[in-house]
Amino acid sequence: MNQYYSIQGGRRLEGTVTISGAKNAAVAIIPAAVLAGECCILENLPAIQDVQTLKHILSRIGAQVDFTRGDCMRVDPTAIRTVDATFPEVSAMRASYYLLGAMLGAYGEVELALPGGCVIGPRPIDQHIKGLRALGANVYIDESRNVVRAQASKLHGAEIFFDLVSVGATINLMLAACKAEGQTVLQNVAKEPHVVDVANFLNMMGASIKGAGTDVIRIQGRKKLHGCSYAVIPDQIETGTYMIAAAATRGDVIIKNVIPTHMEAITAKLLESGAQIVEGDDGREFYLRVKMDGRPRGVNIKTAVYPGFPTDLQQPMMAYLTTAGSNSVVVENIFENRFNHVKELRKMGASISVSKRTARIRGVESLRGADIHATDLRAGAALIVAGLSASGETKVRGIEYIDRGYEHLEHKFNALGASITRIEEE
Ligand code: UD1
Repeated sequence: MNQYYSIQGGRRLEGTVTISGAKNAAVAIIPAAVLAGECCILENLPAIQDVQTLKHILSRIGAQVDFTRGDCMRVDPTAIRTVDATFPEVSAMRASYYLLGAMLGAYGEVELALPGGCVIGPRPIDQHIKGLRALGANVYIDESRNVVRAQASKLHGAEIFFDLVSVGATINLMLAACKAEGQTVLQNVAKEPHVVDVANFLNMMGASIKGAGTDVIRIQGRKKLHGCSYAVIPDQIETGTYMIAAAATRGDVIIKNVIPTHMEAITAKLLESGAQIVEGDDGREFYLRVKMDGRPRGVNIKTAVYPGFPTDLQQPMMAYLTTAGSNSVVVENIFENRFNHVKELRKMGASISVSKRTARIRGVESLRGADIHATDLRAGAALIVAGLSASGETKVRGIEYIDRGYEHLEHKFNALGASITRIEEE
């Protein structure tokens, strides 16, 4: 049974939306819980498919994993009975690669189906492997079975300089190194908010990780880690998606449960485009209010590692800029092939030309509804933004990608006045 979204566009978004826990933190923190050797309680998890898939993966290797309420999961890794994670669910999601560092740290051994995930160009894991080898692990890729195997009789601390800044490699090395003997120094690391969140979680479990959020992370290995309770940070990318959608529909939206400092690159670009943005604190949590009147001005975007403009918001931002009053240039510096959404936006009347990693957008008056297809998670978010602002009906297909990473998307948007219906078809 296929599902698609039918969006009746052209409605101004107004009201309040609350942001869920961060997908990219959650998908690392859940596997990280196997390092504890005791129960962990994970709170503020987003209700998304990737979290369900990880629950399934951990259960399948023997962990006891239960939701104690909608956003709260109890992970008991003590019953894990195998280091073989070569079944299909593992390759269905990219972030399952965190089991490499976590299982290696916990059990000294793991066999893992190679990760899949969104189709946004080649996504090698050479930096993960280089780092794990430096800690003393034997890592072997069996291409015939599409499996990676890692084993270490003992992990030892090491100095590792990453050749490029990688979120995944930074987190995977933190996971393994917090159980290695001695000190590990990771240089040229990612500084994304979810990297810091994972480090905070590991420290709560008794690890000693210093410097997360800077270019150098120092980890003092520990023999044992213990269980803890931990609440995941709010989702930077979900926040940005609602900010952009508010501006794209010339709306007025209050976005609650956010960390405004994580949003500075997006806030700066939306302000430059003519949106009004107010940061506030209602005494319980921070919020952002995004208001837009009239057509935006075109702006230029270059994606970069944090604190630069996040690649995960490049696609929704481009959808917004298609109706700007002047031209925009978007340069994608992180992934080679993250312009799959362009041909779908063109079907809606957008005028975009692409050359290698650069997209040039000539703003048009408005978009019109069309039958379009998401090819990855954030392309899906871009098509939703486009559909919300377009005239008439937009059908967005491929919504299984969107379900991987956005909690209750249609309910949240509909509460703001949108009209999005999930339709099942044979
Ligand atoms: C994570 C995020 C993803 C985001 C991306 C960049 C998760 C689960 N996913 O993905 O949403 O778009 O960060 O912010 O957190 N690379 C290599 N070799 C490696 C590792 C990476 O060449 O060993 C390259 C990648 O192909 C890519 C770039 O480095 O071009 C950045 O990748 P990385 O930061 O690792 O992204 P992910 O962890 O896959």
